[in-house]
Amino acid sequence: MSALTQSSCWQALERHATDFRRQHLRDLFAADPERAARYSAQVAGLWVDYSKQRISDETLELLMALAAQQGVLARRDAMFAGEKINTTERRAVLHVALRNRSNRPIEVDGLDVMPGVNAVLAQMRSFTDAVHQGRWLGFTGERITDVVNIGIGGSDLGPRMICDALASHAVAGMRAHFVSNVAPSDVATVLAGLEPQRTLFVVASKTFTTQETLANAQAARRWLVDHLGDEAAVAQHFVAVSTNAEAVAKFGIDTRQMFPFWDWVGGRYSLWSSIGLPIALYIGMDGFERLLEGAHALDEHFRTAPAEENLPLRLGLIDVWNSNFLGAETLAILPYGTRLHRLPAYLQQASMESNGKSVDWHGQRVDYATGPVVWGGAGTNGQHAFYQLLHQGTRLIPSEFIAAVRTHSPVGTQQAMLLSNLLAQTRALMLGRDLNAVTREMQAAGVSAQDIAEIAPHRVFLGNQPSTTILFPQMTPEAVGALVALYEHRIFVAGALWQIDSFDQWGVELGKQMANELLPSVGYRPPAGQFDASTESLLQVIHQHWM
Ligand code: F6P
Repeated sequence: MSALTQSSCWQALERHATDFRRQHLRDLFAADPERAARYSAQVAGLWVDYSKQRISDETLELLMALAAQQGVLARRDAMFAGEKINTTERRAVLHVALRNRSNRPIEVDGLDVMPGVNAVLAQMRSFTDAVHQGRWLGFTGERITDVVNIGIGGSDLGPRMICDALASHAVAGMRAHFVSNVAPSDVATVLAGLEPQRTLFVVASKTFTTQETLANAQAARRWLVDHLGDEAAVAQHFVAVSTNAEAVAKFGIDTRQMFPFWDWVGGRYSLWSSIGLPIALYIGMDGFERLLEGAHALDEHFRTAPAEENLPLRLGLIDVWNSNFLGAETLAILPYGTRLHRLPAYLQQASMESNGKSVDWHGQRVDYATGPVVWGGAGTNGQHAFYQLLHQGTRLIPSEFIAAVRTHSPVGTQQAMLLSNLLAQTRALMLGRDLNAVTREMQAAGVSAQDIAEIAPHRVFLGNQPSTTILFPQMTPEAVGALVALYEHRIFVAGALWQIDSFDQWGVELGKQMANELLPSVGYRPPAGQFDASTESLLQVIHQHWM
């Protein structure tokens, strides 16, 4: 057993969970009229109600003791101080510096990173203003109206999610598009809807070695040159965002048109860096800086609020409670409203690439569950698709309900319907409906005794499914910034408690290496008996149908 699972704090939580698993949320609410008030908080414009989590004061006390034992807050301080807490990559972890609007010095290896951060923000502002004011024009002298971000993973999901979320804040006439997948239809579909003379490509890759991004960028470049008939057009229509100037130059983008960032920005934490350039081009640099302000407000709370009031700490500990002590294996992200429909995919990478680890800081294999499977989809659509399993399946599935109260698109009574559905779902998941209630309802509806006996059990809801609800007044850049930062820090808290490196991603390497080994055998030459039997037989099928 590991030191963590052997520790008295962990064991106390296990004992507590054994007793507590029998408690039903509806009884906890009935016993404590103050429960909602006590287990809610307002931070950086977000109203967070975690009272429907299966917790008590004792749970929280025991979790806090565990966090103290594991040095979670010391780890937080190390992150904000620029220490190299990404130990396997020997890097600092400073996405918080990118949105450090106070400009407080933050040092890495004795050097303040803030002048560099501010210089890149100034570079982004000068470029986006030039595009919006028509001072940066396309090769044929036309204004840029369409921005295409070519990137994948952290160089795609963040800007894509934020551009969708803040579509109501778009600069008039600007459109944002995203190409990520190496599947040829992705780039082909986006290009098919564009006019080359008005299109700006942002090639976004931290490493500038990512196969998919480079292949898509080459395709876009060919398309542009074919249509505009001159290689020289590339200079007006391509910019790069990267930490790798050499590779950018090799690709053929002038490094004066490169927006840099730093190795202490993890890909999945990079939307706050120049990776956010498509956001700034879409909503304007003022909007982008408002996004940073929102995240900074949350950072300051996480950095300075006392442990008992610290919301990311509390929510991160509840995530640990659900995973390690109540046995939850997944976390459902359920934004209400289409604008945030990409949040589940964004948080999937943020959480699963960060905390999907099974070896601790000391290189020991862990004997406890780490990051949950994160999934989800927008409400109310999900209610008509997968919620059945949340309500009547056999698994414990903690879920997160997220909504802006006011809409930028008032249509009829839809927004009230949207919110009433959100509230109904959190209530139904919590309360459930027992056999007596079902029977009474069916009797009142005049259903026969035989039908009641046969059907009533299928209409029972056990309830007791935990959820957290996050509300904010409107989908503003500040609110979205704070929301994302809240999740980032929760992920940090859980990772620190589990003592895993939340900032590396070695698990993605094996597949990349194998894809490179397989590429020559797909389409180009027949398999040579060098792979396993299943792969060989699949290669045969591909060869049979190729072309
Ligand atoms: O393969 C995973 C990964 O490295 C992610 O961590 C990263 O966000 C993504 O690929 C894209 O990487 P890059 O920005 O270097 O192209």
